[in-house]
Amino acid sequence: MSILHARDIASYLDRQRNKETVRFITCGSVDDGKSTLIGRLLFESKCIFDDQLQALETDSRQYGTQGEKIDLALLVDGLQAEREQGITIDVAYRFFATDRRRYIVADTPGHEQYTRNMATGASTADLAVILIDARKGVLTQTRRHSRIVAMMGIRHVVLAVNKMDLVGCDQAVYDAIVAEYRAFSAGFGFVDIQAIPLSGLDGDNVLHASARMPWYSGPSLMDYLDTVEVRDPSGRGAFRMPVQWVNRPNLDFRGLCGRIAEGTLRPGDRVRVLPSGVSVQVKAILAGGDEVDAAEVGDAVTVTLAAEVDVSRGDVLVASANPPEVADQFEAKLLWMVEHPMSPGRQYLLKLACKEVTATITAIKYREDVNTGAHLAAKQLGLNEIATVNLSTSAPLVFEPYGVNRVLGGFILIDKLSLETVGAGMIDFALRRSSNIHWQALELNKETRAAQKHQTPRCVWFTGLSGSGKSTIANLLERRLHAEGKHTYLLDGDNVRHGLNRDLGFTEADRVENIRRVAEVARLMADAGLIVLVSFISPFIGERRMARDLFAPGEFVEVYVDTPIEECERRDVKGLYAKARAGALKNFTGIDSPYEAPEAPEVHLEAGRLSTEACVEVLAQALG
Ligand code: ADX
Repeated sequence: MSILHARDIASYLDRQRNKETVRFITCGSVDDGKSTLIGRLLFESKCIFDDQLQALETDSRQYGTQGEKIDLALLVDGLQAEREQGITIDVAYRFFATDRRRYIVADTPGHEQYTRNMATGASTADLAVILIDARKGVLTQTRRHSRIVAMMGIRHVVLAVNKMDLVGCDQAVYDAIVAEYRAFSAGFGFVDIQAIPLSGLDGDNVLHASARMPWYSGPSLMDYLDTVEVRDPSGRGAFRMPVQWVNRPNLDFRGLCGRIAEGTLRPGDRVRVLPSGVSVQVKAILAGGDEVDAAEVGDAVTVTLAAEVDVSRGDVLVASANPPEVADQFEAKLLWMVEHPMSPGRQYLLKLACKEVTATITAIKYREDVNTGAHLAAKQLGLNEIATVNLSTSAPLVFEPYGVNRVLGGFILIDKLSLETVGAGMIDFALRRSSNIHWQALELNKETRAAQKHQTPRCVWFTGLSGSGKSTIANLLERRLHAEGKHTYLLDGDNVRHGLNRDLGFTEADRVENIRRVAEVARLMADAGLIVLVSFISPFIGERRMARDLFAPGEFVEVYVDTPIEECERRDVKGLYAKARAGALKNFTGIDSPYEAPEAPEVHLEAGRLSTEACVEVLAQALG
């Protein structure tokens, strides 16, 4: 035994501490050799203590299935047997380390009734090792596990094709399995699938390249685990920390305790308390009893604030300039985990981060066949079924889509009476933005709203005679923009005059007021980030200029729908020209009320000559 100096020990501990931790889950059907493989990883990484090893040798001789060899499965199966008797159905976590990394392995039983454990283990894992028995290939169980792994947000998969020794280390068998798996999982959003042919029992390609499979040139399982980039290298997201509890030991101290879910925090940073939206400066950060200069994702900290603000358990501290959404209606994926079916309309407790609210599933949009992914109609959800649902909560939740942030996007549903966990969910998006209750506090503006819609707000202002084709063109343009995924609204003279402006007629004064109001409405809509189309005769240059001045430079696009009055009159869709000519309609534009044509419109459409489609094409070009 070597003698270590205190300094060596300190540096050893330091190295251990600074190693990156990788969490992975192993999934496989019963008898895939999962326990043996995990046992081998533990064994080879020397994470088994000497006394355990001795016991293992004895046990192997007594109960083992491997003759004289050590039965590594016994290392893991002890606990598993206990679990399968129903004593506990928790996830077993095992730890081992290499020179490079520390590992936490979530080992979950393969039986179908343990899907909930699998989901629990997967929810915090960076990577999944999916085991396949080379003799059996891709099984229903493989498909189900993979679908759940994908749903739980795991993006890195090792396809461990095990028991290669039992198929004569045949490359063709391996290639066929890998091809089938890749085809099946194509739409799952996996960033990488590393297939490795191995033998957990004999150790081939577990730590070292196998001499029996010279055709395989990829990494061994351990090499891959040691080098795969599981974190987003582009850097960290904005700061988020759900408040677990408010620590107030005396009147002089109030600390907000929690684990940082994303980003970094430093004293002096401005944070926002959601859902209230109040912004405040961080005074100090305590970690493990000491004040620290910075804390980052994963750290458990106590934060003190520079000002007294209202904060309670379940609130979320976030980067002031980059707050997440707040909403009470969501679309989410849901995994039902108990025998008793889930019924829409029933109330459950929903726990997201540290917040608990009452929630109701308002609709099951569709159930997913876990094997094929087919969308099925459903009125209820049974054990292990997965669905996409709409849900509504009794109070607003601070959230992010699960794909962006697992802590603020994942939730569990709890039965109100038994307090049993009945479902696990992942938020896709908010159905209706409820964040405007925090309008002022959130410092949202036109830019943030527009950015969320991935568009530049615009006011496309159509002017022209009655019957010139403004509305027809505007309608078609809106349809086109909508189809392109743009967020639009069309304000049409005839429609607005039925509501907002129903008190107005066609005198000059009324037309001025008509345009003033609609211009103000259009401005609000652009401020909301929309592309708003306005289709009004708007006959006067002065009011059109007034409207233009309400918008930022470049935002207002004046479109002159220039159809000669003869043509408008010939069309006379509403019979109004005839009425006006007959003197039955006063102040009709172009007859006894003036139309002042635009001098320098952004777009001049000779709509008498061009087809509607051609006009829309010109506009689409102009709008870029
Ligand atoms: S604006 O001149 O004040 O901008 P607006 O676009 O809102 O007019 O409404 C025009 C529509 O109102 C026309 O398309 C027509 O259907 C109807 N209308 C009824 N009376 C008149 C009128 N005297 N002059 C023009 N349009 C009229």
